[in-house]
Amino acid sequence: MADRKLPKAGTIEIAPSILSADFARLADEIAIVESAGVKMVHLDIMDGHFVPNITIGPPVIAKLRKYSNLVFDSHLMISEPDKYIEHFVEAGVNHITFHIEVTDKPEKIIDKLHKLGCTAGICLNPETPVEQIEKIAPLCDMVLVMTVHPGFGAQEFMQDAAKKVIKVREIVGPDIRIEVDGGIDPQTTPIVVSYGADTLVAGNAIFAQTDRIAAINAIRNAAK
Ligand code: DX5
Ligand code: ZN
Repeated sequence: MADRKLPKAGTIEIAPSILSADFARLADEIAIVESAGVKMVHLDIMDGHFVPNITIGPPVIAKLRKYSNLVFDSHLMISEPDKYIEHFVEAGVNHITFHIEVTDKPEKIIDKLHKLGCTAGICLNPETPVEQIEKIAPLCDMVLVMTVHPGFGAQEFMQDAAKKVIKVREIVGPDIRIEVDGGIDPQTTPIVVSYGADTLVAGNAIFAQTDRIAAINAIRNAAK
């Protein structure tokens, strides 16, 4: 059985986002990326309120958990993360990222996640300044910098938003992961890695390709 913990910082990890996968065959899609040797899969959770789209919730995740040993990296694009955290942990997620834009008590949520045995991530939208997470970023296990507006896959990479990774890296040092999400592909990967990102979410660049494994390897090679 795999150690379902967010890998320690110091390696580049690819987190395929199932948002662009075939939702009717989710377990199979996850098994394919697992066979490519990734350690984590990125689960985009949308509530139709914080973002104008709706995806999946704890019942679907609980079913998927039986079919995968990957770290479930869940990205909560929801207005009230505090209300649902226990449900996601019970369903089997290992890491939860929530958005700074929806709470004025991020410390409380981070603390709760850690007490539940789940690693914690804070996320900032493209227009949200790094200053808003300056104090709490060091309390997290991973910081997620959005490089598109959240809500949909296959959008264009926003380089100005990606540049915030440089500042986040200065704040958190080498031991906390920095994840980027949106428009990551073999062309944009070298840019975000040069800024200091080590965890690369990719949806469209993987699941829109017929050969998902080759797509993952292309991103891996671009990160070198
Ligand atoms: C967007 C999601 C992303 C999305 C990225 O709101 O948070 O994880 O799947 O999609 P791509 O890689 O297609 O830009
Ligand atoms: Zn995401």
